[in-house]
Amino acid sequence: MIPAAGMGTRLGCSGPKALVDVGGKALVVRTLERFSPIGLLEDAVIIVTPGHENGFKSALARAFPGSPFTIVTGGAERQTSVQKGLDALSPNTEIVVIHDAARPFISQSTVTESMQAAAKCGAATVAIPAVDTVLRGDSGNWLVDTPPRHELWLCQTPQTFRVEVIRRAHAQAAEDDHVGTDDASLVRRMGERVKLIKGSPLNFKVTTPLDLKMAQWVVREGLA
Ligand code: CTP
Ligand code: MG
Repeated sequence: MIPAAGMGTRLGCSGPKALVDVGGKALVVRTLERFSPIGLLEDAVIIVTPGHENGFKSALARAFPGSPFTIVTGGAERQTSVQKGLDALSPNTEIVVIHDAARPFISQSTVTESMQAAAKCGAATVAIPAVDTVLRGDSGNWLVDTPPRHELWLCQTPQTFRVEVIRRAHAQAAEDDHVGTDDASLVRRMGERVKLIKGSPLNFKVTTPLDLKMAQWVVREGLA
């Protein structure tokens, strides 16, 4: 499942971020291409920006003629978008891989590793150990405390789950009016285990104009 329904406010683009050009291809197309060699394209559920369904449909049909994706219209928050995607999974799905459209350089071995971990433990997220010291600050920009760096990881995607686990986590979050910025944390807040899978700095999220420049550079240099 590919959440692609954001508008890219921090990137400052005119249309949906997932359709922004990165070295001649739309961001969401580059991301989806990563899943083709491991056979995950056929069952893909792509969650797209409300009001831009046709733009997504034509970009995807051009890039992947004949690929039978399910396209779902997203919601205002990422969590709502994923919830709608979960509702659209084909009924025989056992493991769901949720990966941001905005991370075009995920490696196939990391996807496979996260699927194996989810099959075994129920839930897994890719993340990278923090290299910088991470500070907690308050609303007035005063330092509150400094959690020990060796305990801190920076969250990435894919986040991979047994379908039953992530459906239960979303239902619980909805019942509690809890809105999170990722899906694995919804599983953890039910007290269940989530395996951390080491990702790579190359699996960065295209968020700002600088990230977009970096993504273009990665493509040009053939780094991922
Ligand atoms: N996303 C989504 N539905 C939303 C918001 C985000 O499917 N309502 C997706 C984005 O398309 C992206 C991923 O979740 O692939 C991570 O979100 P983010 O990088 O924050 O993208 P945007 O929300 O588009 O960017 P911004 O927060 O700068 O507006
Ligand atoms: Mg966002």
